[in-house]
Amino acid sequence: MRQLKLSKAFTLIESGPVVLVTTHDEKNNIMTISWTMVLDFTPVFAITTGEWNHSFSALRKNRECVIAIPTVDMLDQVVGIGTCSGVDTDKFTKFKLTPVQGKFVKAPLIKECLANIECKVIDIVRKHNIVVLNAVAAYVDLARKEKRTVHAVGDGTFIVDGRKMDRSKMMASKLPDGL
Ligand SMILES: Cc1cc2nc3c(=O)[nH]c(=O)nc-3n(C[C@H](O)[C@H](O)[C@H](O)COP(=O)(O)O)c2cc1C
Repeated sequence: MRQLKLSKAFTLIESGPVVLVTTHDEKNNIMTISWTMVLDFTPVFAITTGEWNHSFSALRKNRECVIAIPTVDMLDQVVGIGTCSGVDTDKFTKFKLTPVQGKFVKAPLIKECLANIECKVIDIVRKHNIVVLNAVAAYVDLARKEKRTVHAVGDGTFIVDGRKMDRSKMMASKLPDGL
């Protein structure tokens, strides 16, 4: 994977794809997350999760994770990961995924994903189960052929990325320089 400018990390998640979130607490683990939010143009994101998931204890304790961006060809792995628990399952082995050591966090990147973002937990808003993340490094696999991400409707169905339309000139006054 090639290093991606940190100021561009939010473009990996602004479009709202279903993501995988990895943690490390003695063992590597992965969960599926569709509730994500980009907070602004800085690399600060939020995810919604809580104590009902095993990953949450690692997020709370070690205050770091990786957001990995899967593509449509990985949909069955994505749903499988989100329907079993790291308490009794080694999800990297079960779903044939390869953990790769990042630079700043112990949580692993996922080699098979289109992109990965190393993140530190900077806040947990307990009232709404919001975990706020500050990205510290981002990577994209430019050689990957399949680049279409998936978007959860919320009822077990998914929408696959379609046509990309460019309105960057029209939006120029609202976009940071060099984006
Ligand atoms: C498509 C999909 C989206 C999901 N989105 C979320 C989410 O946004 N927040 C959440 O807490 N759980 C979400 N889940 C459920 C967790 O991924 C699931 O509970 C998982 O088993 C947690 O794994 P863990 O116990 O190993 O942490 C989602 C599951 C699927 C299949």
